[in-house]
Amino acid sequence: MSNRVLKIGMIGGGGGAFIAQPHQRAIHMDGTRRVVAAALHPDPKVALTEAANWPYPVKGYASYDQLLEEQTTAADGDRLDYMLIVTPNFVHFDPAIKAVKLGLPVMCEKPLCMSLDEADQIVAAVSEKKVPFGVAHTYLGHWTTLFSRHIIRSGLLGDIRWVDSSYIQGWLATKLEDAGNMQASWRTNPQAAGKSGCGGDIGTHALMQLRFLTGLEMVSVSARLENFVPGRALDDHFTVYGKLSNGARAIIRASQICHGHKNDLAIEVVGTKGSLAWRQEEPEAVTIYLPGQPDRKYWRGAVSANDGFLGDLPAWLMAEPKIPSGHNEAFHDAYARLHRFFEADVRAYWEKKPFKNDGSTYANVRDGRIGMAFIDASVASSARDGAWVDVRV
Ligand SMILES: NC(=O)c1ccc[n+]([C@@H]2O[C@H](COP(=O)([O-])OP(=O)(O)OC[C@H]3O[C@@H](n4cnc5c(N)ncnc54)[C@H](O)[C@@H]3O)[C@@H](O)[C@H]2O)c1
Repeated sequence: MSNRVLKIGMIGGGGGAFIAQPHQRAIHMDGTRRVVAAALHPDPKVALTEAANWPYPVKGYASYDQLLEEQTTAADGDRLDYMLIVTPNFVHFDPAIKAVKLGLPVMCEKPLCMSLDEADQIVAAVSEKKVPFGVAHTYLGHWTTLFSRHIIRSGLLGDIRWVDSSYIQGWLATKLEDAGNMQASWRTNPQAAGKSGCGGDIGTHALMQLRFLTGLEMVSVSARLENFVPGRALDDHFTVYGKLSNGARAIIRASQICHGHKNDLAIEVVGTKGSLAWRQEEPEAVTIYLPGQPDRKYWRGAVSANDGFLGDLPAWLMAEPKIPSGHNEAFHDAYARLHRFFEADVRAYWEKKPFKNDGSTYANVRDGRIGMAFIDASVASSARDGAWVDVRV
């Protein structure tokens, strides 16, 4: 495989943006990919000025349409390898579908788009053009998430009976959107965020942890979308009781009004033989509870196969941590891992070789679509006082 550095085009990122920053650091972490082009802002002048003053060289564009348009005429060696979309939710669909139709791989921020209908259109375009498409559900990139998936999918916990997956924050406990906070402003606006505020923003992360670890779908939901801050148009508290595809039950909880909670994403998976617990604020450890045995705490980098609970461990999984335990990995490493796995698919795509893009190492477009179907069903259920609604998985 060629070791040329992949060229990435970034859409969004100017004007004090949040998530573009961790993405950039993660992209540059391995030295094998680089952001070289950017449409940073909806205002063309700001987009060009910010690109000219960017901390490293990028070719600036007045708009993402201009950036994409140029790809149609670029010579092979100048063409971008993939697009990164880090704009608010309402600016995902248009650049994503345009890039896919040009045959460009896309890594798009979550939630995938604004509606299930848009999601279906993106899935159709990806199926037709057969391009790698990633949805940036960051926390799937923690080594401990991949390890947890291996444990559960190897059957070590037995049959899954119950999952409690939650993402609790406190930063929107006051009406921050009225204080000029850019991130709060669009997240609380239905035209920019979508049908659900808290659910779309962080409930979808909790759903993806559940699905990725267990391989189960949430097929039916009874939901309550609540709003505790007066005058806010979207939910800031999101509680969904659900039926899973194997008959198990689950709860997905998300909140943005719980003082003291920062990015408190946590999951507990309960099987017939044992349980697993993980929290993103302590992302290096996974705890296993087995009846009649002391609790087992596994740290990334300090795991051995065949230890009386674990069986054989896949070589690729054991090779993935790049630093020893105790030298901590965290959020940026999780993002880097998503980009690393995506990069492998992108390289194969351009070399006209088979690529996976199957959701086994990062969320793909079908996962992103299921996130939208989950939001759709949850909003419909809540509007009917928590009636059961099937998710169109
Ligand atoms: N995966 C995660 O953990 C995670 C965390 C935070 C945010 N996000 C997602 O990332 C996305 C961005 O969130 P954020 O908090 O960084 O938002 P933000 O408001 O901080 O940044 C949005 C950026 O998009 C730019 N933008 C808006 N419209 C544009 C256009 N038409 N053309 C070019 N640029 C445009 C803005 O100028 C800004 O640079 C959202 O979809 C959000 O849900 C994901």
